[in-house]
Amino acid sequence: MMSLENLALPVSGSHISLLGFLLLLALISFTIYTGIVFGSMILSYIFKKKNKKSGNDLELNFSQDIINVITTNPTTWFGFGLMPFLAIILMYIQMAGGQGINSVNILIVSFLFYAVGITVIYFYKNSLHFNMLYSLYENRKAIAKDEFKEGLAEEQNKQMKILNHSTGFWGLTFMFISIWLFATGTQYAVDQSMWSASAIENMFSFSVIFKLTQFIVGGVSMAGATYVFLRYFWDGGYDFKNNEYSEYARKTALGWTLVSLVFQPLLMAIVIGYADKSTVSSMVYVGIAVAVVLSFIGSHILYTYLRNNETSYLKYAYMAVIGAFIFFAVSQQSNFKEANHEYLTYRVHEFEMLELARAAEKSGPVEIDGGEIYKTRCSACHKFDVAQITAPAYADVIPKYADNMEALVNFIANPTPRGNIDPNGNKYPPMANQGLKKNEVEAVAKYIVDQLNGEK
Ligand code: HEC
Repeated sequence: MMSLENLALPVSGSHISLLGFLLLLALISFTIYTGIVFGSMILSYIFKKKNKKSGNDLELNFSQDIINVITTNPTTWFGFGLMPFLAIILMYIQMAGGQGINSVNILIVSFLFYAVGITVIYFYKNSLHFNMLYSLYENRKAIAKDEFKEGLAEEQNKQMKILNHSTGFWGLTFMFISIWLFATGTQYAVDQSMWSASAIENMFSFSVIFKLTQFIVGGVSMAGATYVFLRYFWDGGYDFKNNEYSEYARKTALGWTLVSLVFQPLLMAIVIGYADKSTVSSMVYVGIAVAVVLSFIGSHILYTYLRNNETSYLKYAYMAVIGAFIFFAVSQQSNFKEANHEYLTYRVHEFEMLELARAAEKSGPVEIDGGEIYKTRCSACHKFDVAQITAPAYADVIPKYADNMEALVNFIANPTPRGNIDPNGNKYPPMANQGLKKNEVEAVAKYIVDQLNGEK
């Protein structure tokens, strides 16, 4: 199998910052959307079970209503769920160092469960819808005595109930596994102590279990808050036509939201408490602190709303609750960045080296400068026209090579003793080998000959 690491592209420092920001956006979109869908799925499932026991229609109503409100538009799961999830995986490939590849593998499995889970949840929603229609029809039938093909509708409803039951169960299960894997994969990237353990062991480690719990409880808070916001505030509030249900749903959703919200500060603190201290920057604490304050504000407003049904502050409550989870994501992302700091620095360094190599390639083979070689390697001993104590003047020794560049080159490359060649009668020791490469020798020889010719 091709290594996923090969997919990582070289990134510059500014790219890394941009990627970090995109990762944050993707994380916010994914965790909030998924939290809400999963939370509403849990509530829907719980109330369907309750209804089965008690036969209370309000419960079935709520079970269907909450999943309906939240999964209105099937394209949202593509835009807010699947796409950001894919983006997260790609950015983990780019940004997660060390055992980042373990993170990525786990996230890919998580993604598969996610795709199946969310598809199944839409089946669940639609089958629940059919059950509701049928129960409406049952109620009306007694009054209207219409000519419905009873047997057929009844049979279809039975089928739907089976589909509904299994999709509810499997939708939850798949999503649950996906979220669990997601918590494991992301934890891998920030916690080195996990690297030596197997994925299964890590799934059952305290840090992952708490992360998972925080996510699920948070999802229930957000689902309840979203439900209340959309049903009782948005567009002036939904016209339920049934006050009994309206009041029941309001209290139920608020109750679940408040109870789950109360645990958020504690759960968030535990998640950060488990983080390796060296990977916790001040931004991590700031994110958590803001999240905790916002969840207090949110629950306070929601509680007042529960008591006196005053909707004017509801939107602030909703903003505070969602804001709390956004800031938790900010905190998590800072943790991720800090934990992968060294790797990111390395990636930037790698990029810079690559850029240098590219620049060198573009400018072609570097022109070897004969004048420069003369200056640095020969001029200490040789001058062009005046013989030195150290070496003869070029003007005296070079002309004999005029028609034989090759011999000159050979000499410079490998000086053989000449002895008393200087017309001025100076005596010289043999010239030391200057250790130049062939092209350097050629360049300096050419330079010297050109200089002499130019001077004549
Ligand atoms: C440490 C001093 C020294 C340096 C540096 C040096 N030379 Fe010389 N060079 C000499 C001496 C001494 C001789 C005379 C050698 C002899 O007579 O055997 C000589 C002789 C020569 C000759 C004459 C050869 C002949 O056949 O008459 C050439 C050409 C020459 N050097 C070129 C160079 C070049 C090109 C460089 C730089 C790459 C260089 N030298 C660097 C000391 C030096």
